Amino acid sequence: MSLIKTLEFNVLGDDRGSLISLEQNKNIPFDIKRIYYIFDTQQDVSRGFHAHRNLQQVAVCVKGSCRFTLDDGQTRESILMDSPNVGLYIDNHKWREMHDFSEDCVLIVLASDYYEEADYIRDYDEFLKEVVKNA
Ligand code: TYD
Repeated sequence: MSLIKTLEFNVLGDDRGSLISLEQNKNIPFDIKRIYYIFDTQQDVSRGFHAHRNLQQVAVCVKGSCRFTLDDGQTRESILMDSPNVGLYIDNHKWREMHDFSEDCVLIVLASDYYEEADYIRDYDEFLKEVVKNA
């Protein structure tokens, strides 16, 4: 089974332009407690390099592009995010890295819980240990 799980959102377009609506437990598969966005990322900067113990997220690149790499401790897969109607679903215990941000990239992330530093696994070896424990 692929690590990359995408959600395709309906584009509500008319002659004025496009609109996408994201709703908790409808096209987003969890209660949305937090939204954050990443923008103005400097050239050649990569971000992420962590996993979460108990957090679901959906990332949407609403402008520009970036590349996500997901890793479950056994395999790594990448996806180019360059479409505002595609969400990347990221579950617990998935190591994520974001690379190749375009200058204009705006990445919106919807999260199932509030920010909690204790929920982060920022060390890759610790991540591998926890994945084995949770298997
Ligand atoms: P960080 O999680 O390191 O960014 P990324 O992994 O996406 O590269 O977050 C950067 C900083 O912002 C860090 O000090 C934690 C803080 N932060 C919050 O305060 N609230 C949040 O919702 C997020 C995502 C980060």
